[in-house]
Amino acid sequence: MSERQSVPERLGHDFLRALYHMINTVRMYEDNNQLVRMSVNSFQDILNELTVSGDISIHLYRGRFHLGGEKLPYRRDAAFVVYNMVEFFSKRSIGSLNFLKSSRDTLPENIMTFTRLFNDSVKHNNPHQWLEQKLDEQDFSWVQTFPRHDEDAIFGSESIENERYEKARKKYFLAIEAVREVANKVSQGMVGIRKSRRIAQNLVDMINEDATLMIGLTTIKDYDNYLYAHSVNVALLATCLGRHIELSDIALEHLTICGLFHDLGKVDVPKKVLLKHGTLSDEEWDLLKAHPITGVRKILMLNATPSLRSRIIFGPFEHHLNLDMTGYPRTTFTGHLSLIGKIIHIADVYEAMTAETVYRPKSFTPDEALRNMWSEAGKSFDKILLKRFIHMMGIYPIGSIVELSDGGMGLVMDYPDENERSLPLVLRLVDDGNGNWQRGEMVYLADQITEYGSNSLSIIRGIPPAQLRINPAEFFLRIK
Ligand SMILES: [Fe+2]
Ligand SMILES: [Fe+2]
Repeated sequence: MSERQSVPERLGHDFLRALYHMINTVRMYEDNNQLVRMSVNSFQDILNELTVSGDISIHLYRGRFHLGGEKLPYRRDAAFVVYNMVEFFSKRSIGSLNFLKSSRDTLPENIMTFTRLFNDSVKHNNPHQWLEQKLDEQDFSWVQTFPRHDEDAIFGSESIENERYEKARKKYFLAIEAVREVANKVSQGMVGIRKSRRIAQNLVDMINEDATLMIGLTTIKDYDNYLYAHSVNVALLATCLGRHIELSDIALEHLTICGLFHDLGKVDVPKKVLLKHGTLSDEEWDLLKAHPITGVRKILMLNATPSLRSRIIFGPFEHHLNLDMTGYPRTTFTGHLSLIGKIIHIADVYEAMTAETVYRPKSFTPDEALRNMWSEAGKSFDKILLKRFIHMMGIYPIGSIVELSDGGMGLVMDYPDENERSLPLVLRLVDDGNGNWQRGEMVYLADQITEYGSNSLSIIRGIPPAQLRINPAEFFLRIK
């Protein structure tokens, strides 16, 4: 049995990543390919480091990998490797691999053969049994494989992750309900916002935990509740930007509340104006343009401390004002817009541009929206803040549906590397033949480099989600 030994976190992730690379390169190329040899060598280097004092086991348990008996901590930049490896092990019903100390003396060719067999086992009825038999034939005593326990199957490889998505989904819809409740009651008198504050705190916590998932959630465009979904999306995007520029948690909470309530004044705009198809008359425009001021009046009616009220009125008041003071409401104010106002403005315009609304039946793809907004930097938007926003969202923002250079479709899931905002992690979308899109493989474009150093897989263009009838949020939340 393997001797338990503590594995440094970095080494653990490096090992999993090297195994993933080796499996993929061996699958794609012949044995004599240089990339295959390099990936086997890297794997063997790390394996040698890990087996200095004994055997090393890699074990999949309840959707998480354990190395040498210790759970590999979650790391955002390694999420795609873990995702793909969990799939890889699960498809073969393999629960663990045990590399014995004797693996240190094995030839690279043997490691290559083992990897091919591990890959090929998926084609057989009982992959584990088949694999063990093949390893016996090869006399590979330096590696053992173990089938997945039933318990793991019951919990499912993704169940722990699913809990996280379920929690995010719940909080999102609770936030929608909170905005709706305040909007409905505010016309009838004083409304408390303790609940909204609690929800805002929750959202801030979730953003601190996993901002990418929360940005992914903003692709929810709930048309029946569009005003409320829009408000929650603006709150999330604004708060993610606030976190990106390192605002304090209390400032983030205020930013979230501002986002949730920025369009509260729309409650007083007649439905026939809000939902009107086509151009508004001057009179109707005036009604719509009153919503920032009406919103401030409503916020002043909320049952909150004066200090909180004073902190959450600027965002809603200023959210349609441009940096050059054009926009509305018309004001003789010549000072600077508040930071919160400038952030909400960016989040609001981006959200509205990427949603199909009655005012804008054809929405922009996320990358088009950002390009459009960038042309207004310094006039409509604060240039530095917008730059930070684009950096946070990536060239093809998280949640974009994209066409890949090999003709496939994908969904941009994340930019794992802080400094590389043009090469995202993409979930392949596979057409099941009935016009439905299913989850495919997760590919990291930064890893798709050919032998000659150029990118073998890249993004050609963004596609409007409506064109493929895709709801990106379902893929973020693993409903699909
Ligand atoms: Fe607005
Ligand atoms: Fe808005």
